[in-house]
Amino acid sequence: HRHLLGIEPLSQSDITSILDLADKYVALNRSAHKHSDALAGLTQINMFFENSTRTQASFELAGKRLGADVMNMAMGASSIKKGETLVDTALTLNAMHPDLLVVRHGSSGAVDLLAQKVNCAVLNAGDGSHEHPTQALLDALTIRRAKGRLHRLSIAICGDIAHSRVARSNIMLLGKMENRVRLIGPPTLMPSQIDEFGVEVFDDMREGLEGVDVVMMLRLQKERMDGGFIPSEREYYHRFGLTAEKLAHAKPDAIVMHPGPMNRGVEIDGEIADDVTRSVIQEQVEMGVAVRMAAMDLLARNLRESRAAAASKD
Ligand code: CP
Repeated sequence: HRHLLGIEPLSQSDITSILDLADKYVALNRSAHKHSDALAGLTQINMFFENSTRTQASFELAGKRLGADVMNMAMGASSIKKGETLVDTALTLNAMHPDLLVVRHGSSGAVDLLAQKVNCAVLNAGDGSHEHPTQALLDALTIRRAKGRLHRLSIAICGDIAHSRVARSNIMLLGKMENRVRLIGPPTLMPSQIDEFGVEVFDDMREGLEGVDVVMMLRLQKERMDGGFIPSEREYYHRFGLTAEKLAHAKPDAIVMHPGPMNRGVEIDGEIADDVTRSVIQEQVEMGVAVRMAAMDLLARNLRESRAAAASKD
């Protein structure tokens, strides 16, 4: 693959290769010398048009640990504010010969469009409600390490599914790896094309969580509800917030996940989020750096191979 735009085009073996390499980077990141030269000589530009803590910081650290020259564009201070379009901005940066472009944008499909205009590898760091592939990969690595496998697990994804690129990418990845996915949430926050997903749907947390191995909570994405129905936080917590009493319906060794940012007391009880016997939320963050290192390393290998092949034809 030339780019990482989504989970959709990836095969089971693509996913396994990324996770296997990421496992090696977890060991590197835990060592005293967190450095490799896998991206030495390459330039990585991070363009985040939407706010981020985890994804932006981990892509930056990942690039630096692999020896790339990393530049973070402050998009709020860029000439986008003067009316320059996304495509013109990308073409401008492309003329500076980056090798890896990491892009987060509020519009679904914006990152795919940009990938068609530039001649470097593009990684989707989240586009609208469409895909967030590195999040699904880091979630998969977290599950595989906690459960010892990434197949034949029962996984509940709970909350605002309709607006969640994390849910879409996870549903695709977990389905490709032959897991059983359940979606739990209010019908108003379920996507309209739910039948395409091949998942079970519940609007009752206790029923949906019965016997699951993994409980994945999502944030209410109010910023994407533009004028539509926004549930009251109190009512939402009562029905869909993860509490000890609701979690007791899952398997006794079920893990609790959340991609962050987390709203304590809205979708999850703070005590559960902090309970390290159940919650793997901090492990998810750790896996994020390793997965992004693996994804950029593999794309850089493909980039070097295609450049070498092109050079040998000249
Ligand atoms: N999970 C995630 O994408 O978090 P950020 O928005 O902080 O990057």
